[in-house]
Amino acid sequence: MTQLPLPYYNDDPNSFAYPTVHKRWPTIIEGCIKDMKNELESDPKLENSGSDIITKLQDLLVSFKNDEEVKPFDDAAIKLNPSLARYNESLVELNKTKKVTWLTGPWLNLECYLYQAINQYFISSEESYWHDFDIFENLKNQTFQQSELGALELCKRYEVLTTQLSKSLEKDTLKLLFSEFIDISLWGNATDLSLLAGNVTLEDIQSVQGEANRKKNEENILVNDLSEAWEYLLKSEAKEKRLDIVLDNSGFELFADLIFSLFALDSGLVSEIHLHCKQIPWFVSDVMPKDFSILLKQLIDPKFYGSISNKENLRAISAVQERITNYHKSDKIVIKSHPFWTLDDKYWTIPKFDDLYKDLLASNLVIFKGDLNYRKLTGDVQWDPTTPFTTSIQELATSKLPVLSLRTCKADVVVGLPKGLNEELIEKYKSMSNEKGEFWSSSGKWAVISFSDGRN
Ligand code: F6P
Ligand code: MG
Repeated sequence: MTQLPLPYYNDDPNSFAYPTVHKRWPTIIEGCIKDMKNELESDPKLENSGSDIITKLQDLLVSFKNDEEVKPFDDAAIKLNPSLARYNESLVELNKTKKVTWLTGPWLNLECYLYQAINQYFISSEESYWHDFDIFENLKNQTFQQSELGALELCKRYEVLTTQLSKSLEKDTLKLLFSEFIDISLWGNATDLSLLAGNVTLEDIQSVQGEANRKKNEENILVNDLSEAWEYLLKSEAKEKRLDIVLDNSGFELFADLIFSLFALDSGLVSEIHLHCKQIPWFVSDVMPKDFSILLKQLIDPKFYGSISNKENLRAISAVQERITNYHKSDKIVIKSHPFWTLDDKYWTIPKFDDLYKDLLASNLVIFKGDLNYRKLTGDVQWDPTTPFTTSIQELATSKLPVLSLRTCKADVVVGLPKGLNEELIEKYKSMSNEKGEFWSSSGKWAVISFSDGRN
């Protein structure tokens, strides 16, 4: 392997790491403390064990503020969650370059470490109630509720699609539909709860849901390798094709991914879809297997809806719900989770994880949703923005895994841009009254669709 560029560090004021660490992380943890206090009110028996967790969260906040050294997980923690041993190995490696502290260490590793540390507080409690408690669940549910209009629009679109698909379609029409539903799934990623800890309002989030807005945002897709991915998928002679999606966020994004999945199955493009979830609460809003079941229940719960709860709307929504449920029951939609997705590993180490690698090799296309997946694909290092995607993903480009990344840009790293475009966007973002033009790539307003067939 050639020498990699340096990672993004938390003390770099020109990196989006800086505001993330100084503002978002504390806000997220303060939110957890507040939600814990509410939870304790609901059951006095939880008082002692819950206060214990609150103290740990408060200590974590203090260790940020004091820029303390990030400590390895102890044996008891590793016993409860063996993946943490891998974090300790990576800490040993990182400490060789410089002592890893909260406010100066590498952004990606520490952000992953943070969510593992929070999870540890819950799973190590003597009170079993907390062991599979998801501190972000209320937030996930609330935000999906506020996306009801967006979700309804997708259900109505699906109704029309059903009639379109009842006729046999030309290849070109199918390609257009593929591109439309990929777009739905891509922009679904702009609804990210962890952004709520910054200065993005709910109105901002709703403004990326809906057809009109997706059309408007079309020109903000800076790299678009979708045609290559489409050709690759069609080229395969396999009669039964399998598509995998490494999911990102719950709620509206998951719903958008499921609408895309329905399209891919109903059109006969693929015969199976495997959805990869996280095993622990992750980056606030990421999908855990139970979030899939929760979403299916919410969709048919009339109490869940506000302004749109008339009969006709509810019928359109429950038709979609039924379809997803049936595919799930017949194993055409398969829900999976693997501890790899909550490690701090770059994705080019996937081939070292035998079981996961073998499983993914059976797929005809692996879609990686969202920003964090993109950061892990490209290693979250300071690539020149004109670096080809296939260079940035290192060994993954020759791993035989066909990779398609759908990402709205919410962090620094970006690759595959034509020469000069980054500079143009820096100027443009500045002219939009933003102090740091470089933060265009963290604003969530632009997107990239990048593909590698894994056979470089
Ligand atoms: O930018 C803040 C942040 O928490 C990033 O660290 C992370 O990559 C992103 O938000 C999460 O976005 P997504 O849900 O698209 O992966
Ligand atoms: Mg996420």
